Amino acid sequence: MNQFEANNNENKNSTFLSRRDALLALGSLSLVTALTGLLRETMRFLTPPLSQARPSTLIAGLPTEFPSGELTPLAEGPVFIGRDEAGLFALSAVCTHLGCTVARSGEGLTCPCHGSRFAIDGANLTGPAARPLPYLALKLSDEGLVEVDLNQGVEPTFRLKLTSG
Ligand code: FES
Repeated sequence: MNQFEANNNENKNSTFLSRRDALLALGSLSLVTALTGLLRETMRFLTPPLSQARPSTLIAGLPTEFPSGELTPLAEGPVFIGRDEAGLFALSAVCTHLGCTVARSGEGLTCPCHGSRFAIDGANLTGPAARPLPYLALKLSDEGLVEVDLNQGVEPTFRLKLTSG
């Protein structure tokens, strides 16, 4: 092999290596892109849509609209208003698994998404939800309407005491 052939072979090897490197880099980039997309879609599936703007308070109505001994779902948002002898309370209807809205079913509450069941007081009975439904703060507005604070949790024993009605 003369000097020209040796140089030509070296150039071919160097071209071959750079092509191989370029293909490897392209393959790696494609793999990273595919994995990133897969991870993003998986996270989007597993987490509730937090980006949806929702109001921080809800006007539920007049206290007299909520009969004693009942758990009334609100049309305005994912909340139940309950009333017992101690007063009114607000129970979140947002499932503690992935955020679907639970509904009354039989003696308790059921999540339509993955079947979690809750007792009427919000206690989690069957999974996949592993936590009870939270209770929310509520107060009377200046106009005498029940106002629920969707961002403020309270103890399950919290009651809005009513003087009449
Ligand atoms: S979101 Fe309620 S059980 Fe999954």
